Amino acid sequence: MSMPAASRSSTTVSVRQMQQRDLSSARSIMQIAFGTFIGVADPVNFSADRDYVFTRWKADPSAALVAEIQGAVVGSNFATNWGSFGFFGPLTVKPELWNKGVAQSLLAATMDLFESWKVREAGLFTFAQSGRHVHLYQKFGFWPRFLTAIQAKPIGSVRSVSWSRYSELSDNQREEALRACRDLTDSIFEGLDVTREIRSIQEQSLGDTVLLWGGDAVDAFAVCHCGQGTEAGANVCYIKFAAVKPGPNSEKVFGRLLDACEALGAERGMKRLEAGVNLNRSQAYRALLERGFRTEIQGVAMHRADLPAYNRPDVFILDDWR
Ligand SMILES: CC(C)(COP(=O)(O)OP(=O)(O)OC[C@H]1O[C@@H](n2cnc3c(N)ncnc32)[C@H](O)[C@@H]1OP(=O)(O)O)[C@@H](O)C(=O)NCCC(=O)NCCS
Repeated sequence: MSMPAASRSSTTVSVRQMQQRDLSSARSIMQIAFGTFIGVADPVNFSADRDYVFTRWKADPSAALVAEIQGAVVGSNFATNWGSFGFFGPLTVKPELWNKGVAQSLLAATMDLFESWKVREAGLFTFAQSGRHVHLYQKFGFWPRFLTAIQAKPIGSVRSVSWSRYSELSDNQREEALRACRDLTDSIFEGLDVTREIRSIQEQSLGDTVLLWGGDAVDAFAVCHCGQGTEAGANVCYIKFAAVKPGPNSEKVFGRLLDACEALGAERGMKRLEAGVNLNRSQAYRALLERGFRTEIQGVAMHRADLPAYNRPDVFILDDWR
């Protein structure tokens, strides 16, 4: 990977792969940066129950980048490889160094990663109201399209539904499940492959993957983080990615999948179910609203190229690219 350097008035930025020794600094910069931008009273402890830095670095250290100035970490970014699709974030820079080009150095290196992975399309989730963020990402060829809603509902009385857990499968069955999940996502967007997420949840005990089988194919699956120290946070079951096989029954199967996710959350003592949906996946969005999900955060999805990727009205996928 090429390591670009940027220099603005004596500030020389270098970008390199994140190492274990960087994790604590990267995590505290992330909290302070988001806490400062959002304007919370105590930015140092912002979102302290959620983790992206340790878990994403462990999942793929080669996709985690830090920016340094004079040997000190000043920012970081994480790229995610979902086969033919890639996204990045959280991207954060120490507030006292904003507007000096640090993010752009990280983004240049992130684009190199996408190129080396040969992703066909790429995306990100950002603050829809921030002209500054949109301007920054447009410089790298990303264009704002539909909003993405992060929605949640309380976990209530669970409906009975038949489903299985990836964690309970044998090694051979796991391989079979990964293949079936890959086939499913490929049928929605050629080459889309989220099996790294399934593996990393299992390896790091971050939650579980819910599987709805239809014979030897998977009709639907959901990769869920649960609780403190994961991307979900305390008491939350967060559906990081879910997909339903396209077909005449997909809306019904989507409902069963959500029931199964709620059952997983209840089983693990979680109180809320959280999921992101792009608003151009209009059928999935409406189905969530009908089931009592309410929007808690709304951002905009930016795409490179300026095309829908898998954000289409008939696609039953849940994810948010955070
Ligand atoms: C967003 C963030 C990563 C940007 O980092 P940064 O190092 O300040 O960004 P850069 O200096 O590389 O680029 C900022 C660009 O925005 C421009 N900018 C600043 N204010 C602007 C405004 N109000 N409108 C339009 N552009 C603006 C800057 O001029 C610069 O562009 P230029 O080089 O073309 O002049 C940083 O502010 C941050 O950590 N924010 C909090 C966390 C966050 O929001 N992360 C991103 C979530 S998607």
